[in-house]
Amino acid sequence: MDPARFVRGNTAVSAPPLVPEICLYLATEITPIWQATEEALARSALPPPFWAFAWAGGQALARYLLDHPSEVAGRSVLDFGAGSGLVAIAAAKAGAASVHAAEIDQFAAAAIAENAALNDVAIAVRTTDLLGTVDSRWDVVTAGDVCYERPMADQVTAWLRRLAARGTLVLLGDPGRAYLPSEGLLERARYLVPTSRELEDHDTRDGFVWEVLAG
Ligand SMILES: C[S@@+](CC[C@H](N)C(=O)[O-])C[C@H]1O[C@@H](n2cnc3c(N)ncnc32)[C@H](O)[C@@H]1O
Repeated sequence: MDPARFVRGNTAVSAPPLVPEICLYLATEITPIWQATEEALARSALPPPFWAFAWAGGQALARYLLDHPSEVAGRSVLDFGAGSGLVAIAAAKAGAASVHAAEIDQFAAAAIAENAALNDVAIAVRTTDLLGTVDSRWDVVTAGDVCYERPMADQVTAWLRRLAARGTLVLLGDPGRAYLPSEGLLERARYLVPTSRELEDHDTRDGFVWEVLAG
């Protein structure tokens, strides 16, 4: 299966409610694409299509970057757990000198490439697992909605703190996920993010933008 074709064939172009400036290939209803991917998953062990949704944490972080372009303008940005590429695209639109999007899901990598083209921005997609990697070329590291599973959230948080300790600006977008750390975060912004009951069990979520502080 061609991932780019799967992305285009199972989504529609629309804009996340909090970030109307950015168009993405997104699921229109949850069930069909989730099932489509589950069938593919049964054949070839694919992960769920996180890339087909603009998650509340990512929307808050993308909104923040577009509203505060000086955070990334002229700087080198890594967006970790990029999903659809929403936050990476916002960083590019805000004037980042370079943007890398880290994703371990090949379908997400295809979605990021398709979405970058749709928004006429350049994003370099990295599909090797960068979790734990320290690269002094990243001025800013962003992560949208990555605290939804305990082992991953713990590992990501520890890594982001190490990056912060080296002087990297680390920004995390989160709508109150279960495994968000309870300390070592500085609130930068808070947005009311429209969402759906099917996806989040709520009509809105509070999307926070946190600066991750060194441990
Ligand atoms: C809930 S989605 C958030 C996507 C996007 N940031 C947003 O807010 O819309 C989390 C994403 O993290 C990705 N992910 C999980 N572990 C990862 C890793 N080690 N490296 C890169 N991406 C990872 C998943 O594939 C998934 O697409």
